[in-house]
Amino acid sequence: MVSREFVENLFSIKGKTAIVTGATGALGSAVAAGYALAGAKVVLTARNEAKLKQIESDLIEAGCDCSHIAGDPGDENDVRKIVAYSVQKYGEVNILCACHGFNAAKSVLDQSVEDWEKIMDANAKSVYILSKCVAEQMVAQGKGGKIVITSSARSKRGMKAYTGYSSSKGAVDLMVQSLGCDLGEHNIQVNSFNPTVFRSDLTEWMFHDDNVYQNFLKRLPIGRLGEPADFIGMAIFLASQASDFFTSSNYAADGGYWGN
Ligand SMILES: NC(=O)c1ccc[n+]([C@@H]2O[C@H](COP(=O)([O-])OP(=O)(O)OC[C@H]3O[C@@H](n4cnc5c(N)ncnc54)[C@H](OP(=O)(O)O)[C@@H]3O)[C@@H](O)[C@H]2O)c1
Repeated sequence: MVSREFVENLFSIKGKTAIVTGATGALGSAVAAGYALAGAKVVLTARNEAKLKQIESDLIEAGCDCSHIAGDPGDENDVRKIVAYSVQKYGEVNILCACHGFNAAKSVLDQSVEDWEKIMDANAKSVYILSKCVAEQMVAQGKGGKIVITSSARSKRGMKAYTGYSSSKGAVDLMVQSLGCDLGEHNIQVNSFNPTVFRSDLTEWMFHDDNVYQNFLKRLPIGRLGEPADFIGMAIFLASQASDFFTSSNYAADGGYWGN
């Protein structure tokens, strides 16, 4: 029989150090708060320092242990600084949760190659750089670790004006599968969760346009679009020992969209 202690600690991330990217965004700020309130030491990062400071101060006021460093997840120098800062501040890095992302939807006929590359770099190249730099640190620590990447339900479903976004998230899904293979022997599990539409500054309008909303619901058995807090449980599961046997996977986090 499994022990009470094992079950009670299954989802614990208390005392772990987690880097959360996109911490200024709808999802990243929710995941950062979820991790911090669950007792992790959280390094908040994104490019907008003023927003990071505000989120950090709100979490500290709520009794959390967190800190911030501004940086671009698509820039290797910045990412190396983010990892070094986390180690200097908290001694090690145990969890990466990548919550940053970018889209500028446009038809292939109107989009420049440079604009397409911007989406690929922001969503896919950044995940490679982050995973590489964090994994190097985790391997040096010798204690394993968890890499959790936010992909999208659009990674496996194309859509009008999404040749950039869907391609970038499709790349993320296969990158996650391959990263898990590279890092398995180091006890580092790598997974993505793949949300459908949830509320953010960019998607808020969809919640107020009844036609658009009802149209989405035709493919969503759960009967509503998402909220950032819907994904905190998945982010904690993939960062905790409850997911120790789970790696190289892309998990639907989409109210049933893929299954339908
Ligand atoms: N909202 C949805 O419906 C939805 C659905 C499926 C998947 N997703 C995915 O979920 C994740 C979070 O989305 P969200 O809705 O929370 O987004 P959001 O509120 O717009 O936040 C995006 C975050 O990414 C950072 N960011 C924006 N452009 C960037 C760029 N070019 N390079 C690097 N970082 C950039 C922003 O921070 P700074 O500007 O401060 O750097 C911000 O923290 C993304 O990966 C997104 O693709 C979202």
